[in-house]
Order: sequence, then structure tokens, then C-alpha cells
Amino acid sequence: MEENKRPSWSSYISFIIAAIGSAVGLGNIWRFPYVTGKYGGAVFLLTYLLIIVFICAIPLCLELALGKYFKKDTVTCYENISPKLKWFGLLNLITAILIPAFYFVVGGWIINYIWLFLTNNIPSDFSVYFSTLNSNPYVPCILTFLFLFIVAIFPFRGVNKGIEKANNFMMPTLAIALILLAAVALSLPGAREGLEFMFKPDFSKFSKELILTALGQALFTLSIGMGAMVTYGSYLNKEVNIKKSAYTLIFFDTLVSIIAGVMIFPVVFTYGIEPTAGASLAFISLPQIFLNMPFSIPCAILFFLLLFFAAVTSGISLMETSVACFIDNFKMTRKKSVVVLSLIIGCLSIPSALSFGVLENFKIMGKTIFDSLDFLTSTILLPFNTLLICIICGWFASNIVKEAFGEGKFAGLLKFLLRFVLPVVFTYALIVGL
Ligand code: PFF
Repeated sequence: MEENKRPSWSSYISFIIAAIGSAVGLGNIWRFPYVTGKYGGAVFLLTYLLIIVFICAIPLCLELALGKYFKKDTVTCYENISPKLKWFGLLNLITAILIPAFYFVVGGWIINYIWLFLTNNIPSDFSVYFSTLNSNPYVPCILTFLFLFIVAIFPFRGVNKGIEKANNFMMPTLAIALILLAAVALSLPGAREGLEFMFKPDFSKFSKELILTALGQALFTLSIGMGAMVTYGSYLNKEVNIKKSAYTLIFFDTLVSIIAGVMIFPVVFTYGIEPTAGASLAFISLPQIFLNMPFSIPCAILFFLLLFFAAVTSGISLMETSVACFIDNFKMTRKKSVVVLSLIIGCLSIPSALSFGVLENFKIMGKTIFDSLDFLTSTILLPFNTLLICIICGWFASNIVKEAFGEGKFAGLLKFLLRFVLPVVFTYALIVGL
């Protein structure tokens, strides 16, 4: 019986924590510092803040409102606006299945690194270690499956007993770990330089590419464009204020990104690595540095635990999006949906788990499978889906817009931006991205 009843959050706080759990992920702790580094620090941060508050908040409100209004999964929500839009719901579902196919590979590496530091089995050169780990044909896949298994437990147990419980435990722990690590970082000699890099803008670094990266980062970090927020919104009660919830979510998500920067940049400047070190920052440069820092092993364990909790809570929302679609559309039970979805994600993740070793030379348009999936979802599908959400809701679903923004002057501004500015912005982002 319980299986067929639509779940709902047990409290508003549980919803906010779970939504922050979805938003706060590798995007904040791993990707945000390195794109900020790559695009000149403070000037990137400033652009990012403007974009997140005035642009990305809008589709976030719409997605939450859409779910809250129809109380259904993503596919059915779009189908309810118009049966002709079912394909668009399915595209959201496909995006939600493709993201874990590379995101969970990183989750697997994190588990491996936690194990390394916990067992004090520390390699002398992380660069060699990382490439040896990935050149094995089995280990990266097994690690990815392990991460997938851990994440799947929570949607399997349901919204209240699984998803809420996981977030209620992991998110506060994550906050404490983040603050502790930032405090250690601030005690390092390079703290001042790191903070200046992050907060003192150098406007000569401003570029078109910077704006587009900030836009992509904001979409990815807010989990917009693949139905996660539609799904979490669909478990909301009638009286919840969407606009207020969306801005609360943005506030905390941005706070975490900024603290992650405060944690990483002092380390980067103290030990003289390039702030632009890119994706290898978390798995090669930082672990190497941890070994020279005060409280090296506890700091390393704390850092990877932080990454782990961030990745798991985001992973849960990715899986729940598809699970809700399977339940509502294919009339599967929750448990069966999770098992079927896990098998699909497991198979899809194998080629991307092998992208750094066995399949290193297999390239699609010059990109490995891992990078192609990242590019296809973050640069094409998320902006494309978001563009369509804006057009569909802005021009054809005034009831959703009302649910999303409410009334008043600020709502009027958001409505104007939605109808006239955002379609142009996202179309442009897509064209340049392609
Ligand atoms: N917001 C997550 C992050 O910043 O890592 C990634 C993500 C999670 C994207 C859930 C999309 C999603 F539905």
C-alpha cells in the first residue's frame, strides 16, 4: 500500500536540507574552486553571483513549482502541460541517467582515497598512483559500482526513511568538516594571498568565456535542467513558498562554494600549485600537499569524507529523479525501479570509468567517453533543457509562473527576465557551447 502512495517531506526543513544536499556536490567542492582559479578568482565569483541570483534562480523556481503544482515525476509534469511535451520530459530523464554515468566514477575514486588515508597506505607520488589506479581494467569499475550501491540504498528505502535520513546526517557533518578544514587553511601562511585572489577582483580577467563558464557552473550546481528539483518539489506541501525556498537554497549552496574556495586557495598559494590545476587538483595536487600540512592524515580523511557526503547526497537526487519517473510512468514499484536504474547506470558507467586507462585512446570528437558525457550533459543538455523550461513555462504555463514567483514587484522583474532575457541568454550559451 505504502509503495503506491506519493511520498511527501516530513517537514519543510527536511526538504530544504535534501534540496541543499542535491545542490551541494562535487560541483561546489571540486569544480567551483578550480573554475574560479582558472577564470581569475574574484571577477569570476562576482559574475557567478550575479548570474545565480538573477538568472539561474528563475528556472530553479520554475522546476520546484512545476513539481509542487502537479505532484508528479518530470515526464508526467511536462506531459500535463501538454501531451506534446512528453518527449521533453523524457529528455530530462535521459539527462538524469547520463550524469551519474560519469559523476559516480568520481565517487568511486573518493571511496578509494578515503580507504587509502584510513589505512595509512599512502603512496609517495599521487600522480603515478592516480594513473596506475585508473589503468587497471577492473578497479575503477568496481569502485564506481560500490559508490552506486551506496547511493542506491537511500532511494531504495524511500523518501522519508532513506533520502531524508541520509541528508539529515550527511549535510550537517559536511558543514562541520568544511568549516574545520577552512579554519586549518586560514592558519596557513598563504591564507592572505588566497583570500585576495578570491575576493579582490581584477577586471582585466573578464571574458566571454568566463560568463559562459559561470552560467554552466550555476546550472550544474543548482541541479537545474534534468528534473531533480521538479522531483523534490513534487514531494512538497501546498503552503510552501517556492521563491523563498529557492533563494534559501541558493544562499546555502553559494555559501558552501565560497567556503570551499576559502579552504582551497590558501593551500594552493601556500604550497605553490597553480590555482588553475583543474580536475587533477583534488586527486593529485591536494592529497600530495596534505602530507606536508599540519594534521595531515585527519585533514585528508576529512576532505575526502566531505567530498564523499557531497557526492552521495547529490547522487541520491539524481537517482530519485529517474526512480520517480519509473514509478509514475512505468508503474514499477520503488524497489524494482531502483534495481533497474542501478543496472542501467552501472552499464553506462563502465566506459567512462575506463576512460582514464583502458579506453584512454577511444575518443569522440577529441574527447574521452568521460569528458564527452560531461560535455554533452553540462554544456549541451542542461542549458538546452533550461532554455525549454523557460520558454514552456514563460509563454505557455502562466499557472506555473504564478506558483513559482507569487505576486509583487520582484515577481514582475523575474517574469520579465524569464520571458525576454533568459531565452536569449540560454540560446547564446548553447550556440557558443556547441
Ligand atoms: N549539483 C550537483 C553538484 O554541484 O555537484 C550535481 C548535480 C546533482 C547535478 C543533481 C544535477 C543533479 F540533478
